[in-house]
Amino acid sequence: MKNKKKIVLLGGLILSTLFHFNSQAQEKNTISISSKEIIKVDATQYYKEPFRPQFHFSPEKKWMNDPNGMLFHNGTYHLFYQYYPDDIVWGPMHWGHATSKDLIHWQHKKIALFPDELGYIFSGSAVMDTNNTSGLETKENPPMIAVFTYHNMEFEKAGKINTQTQGLAYSLDQGETWKKYNANPIINNITLKDFRDPKVFWNEDTNQWNLVLVAGDRAQIYTSANLLQWKLESEFGQNKGAHGGVWECPDLFKVKVNGTQEEKWVLLVSINPGGANGGSATQYFVGDFDGKTFTTSQKEIKWVDYGTDNYAGVTYNDAPGGERIFLGWMSNWNYARDTPTTNWRSAMTLPRTLSLSTIKGDYVLQSQPVAQLDKQLSTDFSIEKIKLNKGVDKVFAYSKVNQSKIQFKAENKNLKLVFSNDVNDLLVLQYDAQKQTFAIDRRLSGKVNFEKSFGEKIHTTPTPNIITKNIDFQIILDWSSIEIFLNGGVYSFTEQIFPNQPYTKLTIQSDENQEIKTLSFQSIKGIW
Ligand code: FRU
Repeated sequence: MKNKKKIVLLGGLILSTLFHFNSQAQEKNTISISSKEIIKVDATQYYKEPFRPQFHFSPEKKWMNDPNGMLFHNGTYHLFYQYYPDDIVWGPMHWGHATSKDLIHWQHKKIALFPDELGYIFSGSAVMDTNNTSGLETKENPPMIAVFTYHNMEFEKAGKINTQTQGLAYSLDQGETWKKYNANPIINNITLKDFRDPKVFWNEDTNQWNLVLVAGDRAQIYTSANLLQWKLESEFGQNKGAHGGVWECPDLFKVKVNGTQEEKWVLLVSINPGGANGGSATQYFVGDFDGKTFTTSQKEIKWVDYGTDNYAGVTYNDAPGGERIFLGWMSNWNYARDTPTTNWRSAMTLPRTLSLSTIKGDYVLQSQPVAQLDKQLSTDFSIEKIKLNKGVDKVFAYSKVNQSKIQFKAENKNLKLVFSNDVNDLLVLQYDAQKQTFAIDRRLSGKVNFEKSFGEKIHTTPTPNIITKNIDFQIILDWSSIEIFLNGGVYSFTEQIFPNQPYTKLTIQSDENQEIKTLSFQSIKGIW
C-alpha cells in the first residue's frame, strides 16, 4: 500500500487509495464547488484508509490511547478516551467522546475535557451521581461525574515530582458539555511521581463510593460519601503480581463465578513495560473486598489477554443486566506512536464480556466479544466436519479474511493456521498440544519494520488451562488486528497486524490426523 496507485481488493470491495481523502463526518456526501472545479468527495471513502479498523472503535482523526469514563446511562454507552486532537502522536491530553446504543456502532461527539491550568487530562472514569451526593445538581437532574488525573506539565518541566493529582468535572446534559469542579484537585499529591487513573464506582454492599487508583507499584483504595472528599483506606500490591513496569489504569469489580452463587472481586492493573509478551499488558487479581481493603491468596501472575495489543482496559459502570463489559486500547507503548497509519492512530479492542470460572480449582477471568457483534455477521461458508490428514494442508481461499470471524472446534492436538496473501505476507498461529503453548508469529505478517520490537519475536504463551478434549477457536480479523479466543476466552490474544495486502487465504495444517468440526467463515459488516 506504499504505492498510492495500488488497487486493493478486499471483501468484494475495490478500494482505490489513489483518491485518499482525509474524510470527516461533516464532509460526508458534500460537493464543494469553486469557480473552476468540482470536487466530489466520495462518502464511500469514509473510514476506508489503509489499515482503518472496520468494526472497531477508532477516532475519526488524530491520536487516541486509553478508554476512559466508560458509563452506561439512559440506554447509551459513553466512551471517553485519551485524545490529542492536533497530531497522530501522544500530546497534551484531552478526553475525546463517543456514544453508542449497542457497543458496536458509535457516534462521535465533541471533545469532553480540555487541559487547563492544573494540567493535561489523563485517564479516569465516570459515574452517574443519581442521588446527587455531590450536591453539584439536583436529584431530579443528577450530574454525570468524571474523575480523572491532572498531569501538570509546568511542574514536570520544573523538575517537580508531584505532577499528578485527581480532578473532577461534571455534566448536566448527559455528557454533552462539562464543567470542571471549582475546588480541584479533589485528591492532592505532594510526594508521588506516579499517582493516577482513578476508577470510581458505587459500592452497593457498603453504600458508599469507592475509588481505586495507582501509585507507582501499588493500588490505593479510597472511600467517599459525596465524590468530592476521599479517604485513603488501604494499599494493595507492592509485593504482589507483575512489577516489570509502572502500574496503570486499575479497575475493581465484583463478579459471580460461572455456575455457582459465589462472588469474587477482580482487580485489573495494567503495567508498562513488563507485559506477558513484552511492553504493555493488563494483569488481574481475584480476591475479596470489604469496601476498604482488597485481599487475595493468588500467587501466580494472571493476564487478561496474552497478546501484545490490549492495554489500559477497564469496564463499564452500570452496564445493563450487571454485565462486566471491558474495552482495551488495542496498542502497546513499545510502538504505539510508530504504527503505519496516516491521519489517525489506534483503535479499541472489541468490547468484551468478562466472566469468572474455575479451572483446575483456580479462578480464571474469561473474555468474549459481546453478543451484539453477532448482528454484524453473515455466514459465507460453514461445514460440519472436515478431516485434516497429517501433513496435508487444507487451504481456504477467502477474499474477506481481514473482515471476518472464523470459528471451529479442533481436537486437542497440534494445529497450525497460516493467514497469507499473494505478496507472501504470513501470519502464523500455532497450538502445541505437547508443550501446551499457543504461539502467534507476526514476524512476516506485513509491515513490521516501523519499530524494532514489533516483528522481532514469536509470542508464545503457556496454555495449561486448555484441558478439554476439543478446543473452541474463535478468530476475528479486522483490517489491522487479530483477536483470538480459545475455549470461550479462557485465553484471549489481541495483536495488531499491518498486511501489505489483505490476507486472502487460510491454511490449516497438522502433523497429526484430526477432525475439525463446525467450521464457519463469517464476514463482518463495517460499522462506519
Ligand atoms: C496508560 C497511561 C495512563 C495515563 C495515560 C496518559 O496508557 O499512561 O497511565 O493516564 O496513559 O495518556
